Formats: sequence, C-alpha cells, structure tokens
Amino acid sequence: QRNSSGEPIHDTPPHCLVVPLPATGHINPMLQFSKRLISKRIRVTLVLTRFVSKSITAAREGEFNVCLESISDGFDDGGMEAAENTRVYLDTFREVGSGALSRLIEKQSDAGEPVHCVVYDHCIPWCLDVAKKFGLVGAAFLTQSCAVDAIYNHVYQGLIRPPVTEQGILRALPGLPPLKSEDLPSLVSKFGTYPAIFGALVGQFSNIDEADWVFCNSVYELENEAADWLSKRLPKFTTIGPTVPSMYLDKRLKADVDYGFSIFKPSNELCMNWLGNKPNGSVVYVSFGSLASLGSAQMEELFWGLNNSGHYFLWVVRKTEEAKLPKNYCFNPEKGLIVSWCSQLEVLASGAVGCFVTHCGWNSTLEGLSLGVPMVAMPQWTDQPTNAKFTRDVWGMGVRAEDGENGLVMREEVERCVKEVMEGEKGVEIRRNGDKWKNVMKDAVSEGGSSDRCISQFAGSLINQVL
Ligand code: UDX
Repeated sequence: QRNSSGEPIHDTPPHCLVVPLPATGHINPMLQFSKRLISKRIRVTLVLTRFVSKSITAAREGEFNVCLESISDGFDDGGMEAAENTRVYLDTFREVGSGALSRLIEKQSDAGEPVHCVVYDHCIPWCLDVAKKFGLVGAAFLTQSCAVDAIYNHVYQGLIRPPVTEQGILRALPGLPPLKSEDLPSLVSKFGTYPAIFGALVGQFSNIDEADWVFCNSVYELENEAADWLSKRLPKFTTIGPTVPSMYLDKRLKADVDYGFSIFKPSNELCMNWLGNKPNGSVVYVSFGSLASLGSAQMEELFWGLNNSGHYFLWVVRKTEEAKLPKNYCFNPEKGLIVSWCSQLEVLASGAVGCFVTHCGWNSTLEGLSLGVPMVAMPQWTDQPTNAKFTRDVWGMGVRAEDGENGLVMREEVERCVKEVMEGEKGVEIRRNGDKWKNVMKDAVSEGGSSDRCISQFAGSLINQVL
C-alpha cells in the first residue's frame, strides 16, 4: 500500500523491545533512545525488571512516553542489591530473564503486538540469543564510549593483557590517543577488581557478530577514530548518541515529552529556586552519579575544597552517602546546597552552573558536553578514567583533579581545579570548546545529522521488513 506521494503506508508499525540493565546509567540512555525510535514511527516497549518497574510506577507514573513491560530477573523484591554479588546477579538474570523475555515475546504476539526486534543492553548479551531463537532482529546497545568499547575489544581479542599497571604509555592501540595505565578503565588497569563486571564488558563481544545492529551511545564527530576502528572490527557498528533529550540540545523544542528516568526522588524545586538567584556561570555543580561511593576522608577533602574555593556549590550527596559528610559540617546556605538527587540536565542547563565536578560517568560526560559545561574530572572506577582522559586531552572540556600520594584528591587540588575552570585562562578556552561541542552534539541528532541518519536507517529497515 502506498499513499498519494508514493510512500508506503504501514498501519502497524514495527515493534521493538528495548531491554536495559536495571541501573540508572543504562535505563536513562535506553529510554531516550526509545523516544527517538518512536519519533521515527517505531512502536517501542521498554522492558524493565519487576523490581525497577515497581519502584518507578510508584514514583513517577505517567512521565513516560513509551509502553512499559516488566520481566523477572530473579530478584523481584530487592533487585540487584538483593543478590549476593554481581556475578550471582548477572547469572541469575540470564537464567531467569531468558525464559521471562521469551514469554514476553510470545505474550506480545498473542496480544496481536508481534515483536520484530530486540534492542538489548550490551551487558546482557543473552537477549540476542532469545531474539534469534524467535527469528527477530537483534540490536546491541553499547552504553559506554567508543574508546572504552575499543579498549574492551582489544582485551577480548587478547591484544591487551591486563593488568596494565606500568606507568608507561600504551602507544599500540589504533584509533586511540596514547594512554597511560591511569587513563584505562579501572577494570583493566586494576585487573581483578569487580571481575563479574569485567567479564560482562569483555563478554559483550562473545556473540556480537551475530547482532544485526550495534548501536553505541556516542557521536561520530566526537570519537571518529575509535568509531572507525570499531566499524572495521564490527561491521554493524554505528553511533546514535547523545541520548540527551532534544529539548536540552535545542531550546526551541518543547519541554513536555522528555523526562529522564530516576529511582531517586529529585529535589528539583529546591535546586531550581536556589539556582534561580545565582548569577550566570557562578555555581559549581558536583555529582558522582548513581553508583560511585566516595570514602569519608575523600568527602571531607571535597567539602573543604569546595568551601575554600569561595564559589557557590550545589552538591548531590545520595542518601546512602550522607553519613560520610564531615561531622558537624556547616556552611552558609546561600553559598552551598547539598541535595540527595536532582534533575541533572535541568541543573546543567540552568545557565547558573559554570563548572561540573564529575566522576565522568559516560552519561554525565555526554550531558556536560551537550550543554557545553566545563568539567573538573574526578573519575572513580570503570570507564570513568578513560572518559576523564578524553574530556581533558581530546575534547579540551575540562581539567582532571589528580590524586595525592595518599590516593585522595586533596582539598587544595579541588580548590585549584575549581578556580582554574571558574576564574582562569583555562576556563575561557574550555568554554570556547564547549560552544563547539554543544553544536556538534545537537547536530548529530538533528535531522540529517550523523546519529539521526543511523537511527533513520535502522527504523527504515524495520519498516521495510513489516511491509
Ligand atoms: C554508570 C557508570 O558508573 C558509568 O561510568 C557508566 O558509563 C554508565 O553507568 P553512573 O555512575 O550512574 O552510571 O553515571 P552516569 O553515566 O553519569 O549516569 C548518571 C545519570 O544520572 C545521568 O544521566 C545524570 O543526569 C543522572 N543524575 C545524576 C541525575 O539525574 N540526578 C543526579 O542528581 C545525579
């Protein structure tokens, strides 16, 4: 069937199941990707675990623009935290989840909503086996940067053999700048820490050659060399990021459709009111994402570094971290605000924020780049050291707070970095780069941009398939 302009008409759009790992840093980008697919006339069902699904329906019902379904990961009452350790969690999710995902696909078919494609988180590659069992299109979704994926692919191929502990420079990695061990993902440089997560990130490549599409939440123009290298290794590889809601990339777009996902309750009104009377670019925003956990000695150094910098600061300290704040701490509430969670994008986009002290989680890094906010990188673990390296040395978007001899970033270093970004020449240069990257990120997902073309191509191929 074709319309009067000769374009094919499809009454029943292709149906994709999108299956993230149940963690904020994975659900957020896959939810935003789902919304981009919907804008390309794909029907999307976001598949959450039962535990996450219960938490969000209680907290944020009605804020999603995609269909939601849930499957069991074997921990319906406590989620990942309830598992003995990450390996037990991932193994159980594979065992229980394979059956649950199969049943969901059958249920959708019985309900007249047959599934055509499964987009799955790279950390749970067994979803591809399920998709293939039903003869469906399978698409891997890589939640980390191209550079980090390239490094893990080197490990998978045996081209890097961890631990890479020497302080020397790794020159031999094509598509990547020279890297010191401190620039590598911590799971590679500190081999043996978190073996289950390391296993999942290397193991993502075990069946990836069978995937029909490999999406990476990055932008070609941001990491063209690593992306080109990966494309040679993985012919189905494409970049589809940033998965930052469009309204933050282009202020002309309406604000009512794109909400992030959060299992933490944001103190948004409080934050936005507090930010509202601060001059442009005057506030240091500090956040370490949804997982990273600083020691109390580090929290104390950070606290004093922020105070001593003399700048306004808005610091996200999750409820579980609160007890680590210095005892009897006090500061002028006009000068600083500590909240347990906020809507980070809204805060970064407020204009009041002049500097982002970040752990360099990949989503936070993309958000900082997309809004052109200068960063002070304080990487903690996994991919964050590599993201910090690129933030400072490749994209010129920040400085890196260096560890002291005791392994802590000391208060003087925090103060120095904040001042360098907020007051120094460096800050001027970073803000100039910020304007450039902001446009690069926006252009990538705007009509005809590099990521938009990849998403359109994918949507088009699914639509052709159901015609
Ligand atoms: C994890 C890993 O740590 C990270 O390195 C990996 O790349 C993705 O998975 P996380 O540590 O939570 O994620 O960091 P990040 O990737 O930055 O994601 C955090 C998300 O939470 C961001 O989208 C950020 O906007 C959001 N956030 C954070 C809030 O909405 N409010 C906050 O107060 C803090």
